[in-house]
Amino acid sequence: MNTSLRFALAGCGSIAPTHARALASLTDAALVACTDALPERARAFAAEFGPRPLAWADVLADPDIDAVTVCAPSGLHAALGVQALRAGKHVVVEKPMDISLAACDALLAAQRESGRRLAVISQHRFDRASRAVRAALDDGLLGDLILVDARIPWYRTQEYYDSGDWRGTWALDGGGCLMNQGVHTVDLLRWLAGPAVTVYAQARTAAHIRLETEDAITATLTFASGAIGTLMASTAAYPGFPARLALHGTRGSAVIEGDALQTLAIQGRETVAGEAAIAHAVQVATGGTKAATTLAPPELGAGAWGEAHRAQLADFLQCCRTGATPQVDGTQGRNAVELVLACYESARTGQVVMLPGARP
Ligand SMILES: NC(=O)c1ccc[n+]([C@@H]2O[C@H](COP(=O)([O-])OP(=O)(O)OC[C@H]3O[C@@H](n4cnc5c(N)ncnc54)[C@H](O)[C@@H]3O)[C@@H](O)[C@H]2O)c1
Repeated sequence: MNTSLRFALAGCGSIAPTHARALASLTDAALVACTDALPERARAFAAEFGPRPLAWADVLADPDIDAVTVCAPSGLHAALGVQALRAGKHVVVEKPMDISLAACDALLAAQRESGRRLAVISQHRFDRASRAVRAALDDGLLGDLILVDARIPWYRTQEYYDSGDWRGTWALDGGGCLMNQGVHTVDLLRWLAGPAVTVYAQARTAAHIRLETEDAITATLTFASGAIGTLMASTAAYPGFPARLALHGTRGSAVIEGDALQTLAIQGRETVAGEAAIAHAVQVATGGTKAATTLAPPELGAGAWGEAHRAQLADFLQCCRTGATPQVDGTQGRNAVELVLACYESARTGQVVMLPGARP
């Protein structure tokens, strides 16, 4: 008997092949259908990756489809996800979860009512570096967080924004460099540093001529833990530099650059980098009882594009089987969107924005 979870993919654009390849590499998943608002795109995708091209209504009606992975423009994630959940499918949506809190809440409510699993892609959670830093923080290796610094100084050409009529629009991208590109690091920041309570942001559109949203934004933040921090994102930083997340605590610092653990420095211990830093963080955090490969297996996010998507989809598959909660569930997807939207509100109003949990 074939016990693979049968997936349909909605939105056959640039990220779709990453999902198709990841699912093809997982023994207990099968991509059986695909759909797109433009049927010729679904047909071309089907010809390359093998699923049946179907209309969306037929995906929803097909009892042989167990799960849907939503790779459509960001502002359509919740609408498609809600319909799929109501049709009894498990749902993965690409990042960001959606572009408004109302949409995120609708998706969360549909998930609760359906009892199906919901995951939001945030693949850098599955990078070995971020898992090792999380282990180090959980074990108190860095002490109490004092300062965090998140930077995404990326570059996108005008042609990139012109390549899809939804890109860089408020209506479907929900913002510019922070909502689209920066949300990965915002999610890591939220996961590793905890909830922010205040945000003050400034944004501008500087380097692109046909772009209604921001291509540069900076923010200062305070966290519930007492830590303070900065966030900078751009798609105007030619030629583009690796994303960087630095966490400085009372006992040490960790710096993730690109997808690698650039530095782990703990007072009284040798400063280490790269693989040595990952091994050190994991071994110290587990009291030496577990090898680094247990908490941060080399096959997870080892650097090749697609590995972290594969790891996140493997987590989702396991949760569909067991009923467990995916590592990046709807609540966590919403948290990242909430922080991005708070930055936008502050940039628009010129005011400090208090997030839920802020003291009056
Ligand atoms: N995790 C990552 O690293 C990563 C990378 C790239 C994109 N993404 C996310 O994936 C999503 C898609 O981005 P992309 O770059 O692939 O965009 P894209 O424009 O290349 O592809 C989107 C596809 O969705 C289709 N579509 C539009 N409306 C639809 C509908 N109602 N039903 C089905 N299909 C529909 C479009 O025709 C298009 O083929 C975005 O939310 C983006 O943020 C994530």
